Amino acid sequence: MALWGGRFEGATSALFKQFNDSLPFDRRLVEQDITGSIAHAKAIAGAGVITRAELATLEQALGTLLAKVRTDPSLLASTTDEDVHSWVERELVALVGDLGKKLHTGRSRNDQVATDIRLWTVGAIDGLLHLIRAAQRSLVAFAERELAAKTVLPGYTHMQRGQPVLLAHWAMAYVAMLDRDAERLLDASKRAAVSPLGAGALAGTAYAIDRVQLSRDLGFEGRISANSLDAVSDRDFAFETLSACALCSLHLSRLGEDLVLYSSTEFGFVQMDDSVTSGSSLMPQKKNPDAMELIRGKSGRVLGSLVTLATVLKGLPLAYNKDLQEDKEPLFDAVDTLAICLQMIPPCIDGMKVHRDRCRTAADDGVIAATDLADYLVRKGVPFRDAHHISGRLVRRALELGTSLIALPMTEMQAIDSRIGEDIRQHLTIDAMLAKRSVPGATGLQPVADAIDAARRRLAM
Ligand code: ARG
Repeated sequence: MALWGGRFEGATSALFKQFNDSLPFDRRLVEQDITGSIAHAKAIAGAGVITRAELATLEQALGTLLAKVRTDPSLLASTTDEDVHSWVERELVALVGDLGKKLHTGRSRNDQVATDIRLWTVGAIDGLLHLIRAAQRSLVAFAERELAAKTVLPGYTHMQRGQPVLLAHWAMAYVAMLDRDAERLLDASKRAAVSPLGAGALAGTAYAIDRVQLSRDLGFEGRISANSLDAVSDRDFAFETLSACALCSLHLSRLGEDLVLYSSTEFGFVQMDDSVTSGSSLMPQKKNPDAMELIRGKSGRVLGSLVTLATVLKGLPLAYNKDLQEDKEPLFDAVDTLAICLQMIPPCIDGMKVHRDRCRTAADDGVIAATDLADYLVRKGVPFRDAHHISGRLVRRALELGTSLIALPMTEMQAIDSRIGEDIRQHLTIDAMLAKRSVPGATGLQPVADAIDAARRRLAM
């Protein structure tokens, strides 16, 4: 039986029921619905709505129900209840009879569902934070290995070789992105952990419940919503969570793209392990970086969920509207999708083989030292803009002669600028280029080692 039958004469159509019911997806909130109900039961007992003895019976029954769904969540799959709230109430009444019907006093499904999703979001963010840290630990361990091997590769801008960088530095760039993602999720979690209970349907409950204590019982540290109209229709926390998820998955997508490129025959910098790749049904030689491609592709889905929720929320009048039922599937799907993408990072990174010689050969491409050549002239007192021009002419000459900057004969160099001396060559090696980049955040051996140390401490590795 529906929770709202009294006013109706006719039955709902089967099609409408199918369209309207949310149990098929909101059953994921069952644990939150029960724990939220236990907190609400305490609050109405505190307000004298139910007796202490009745509270004890409700708490015990809700506890039994919680244990039951924890062992077998599929219990909710086979019923025809409208939503998770209806399911819990029906089960409760089956356990304790009419007392179960008192639980909803002073509460609406509007503040109830808002509470459930907030509880769920806080838990989901906690799970994502663990996965982010695990992904970061893999990247940091990778960076450490490649720092020890001093692996260098070209750093790119416009997908053209720019300056040599340590492969460890490349890996730590993703650690930095994930640091910000974790911060954003934590921040979203703070605003999710606010109790809407007591808002009722929209106007605030008529029972004198202690909202602050109720918030504490939910684990929300006494924080309560400031306005009942806002409380039942606010999904900012879900939007912020989706936004943080979307940005994190965009970061993973960029990592995926780098590794798809780097594992191609053209680059040949890395090789993904067999355990995270697949082959072609037609071309026997193929080994495809599917894991990285899927991470790249799934980011579209997570971003889509953010846009879905934004579109649902846009233009909604106050207060609760059934449109808000559409908040759950995008939120669940985005969290699930990001979670599995994050889970794929450790096996992909830990098992990745690096072709260090290929990386170095690509980095040592003969003209990649052009910036450092200009810097050499700057040290001789040449203004940078002129030094840039001279270096460009030397690059052109080296390319004409089919040689590298470092191997360009001194007569050729001095024909372009007489201030160049033999001491230039020591500035044009990869090691010299790296050694000069010693400011914090740069690709030199020391700053990269420092970045790894700091990350190790943050991640308690
Ligand atoms: N299934 C609903 C949702 O997810 C629960 C709230 C229903 N409220 C209502 N007034 N019909 O939003």
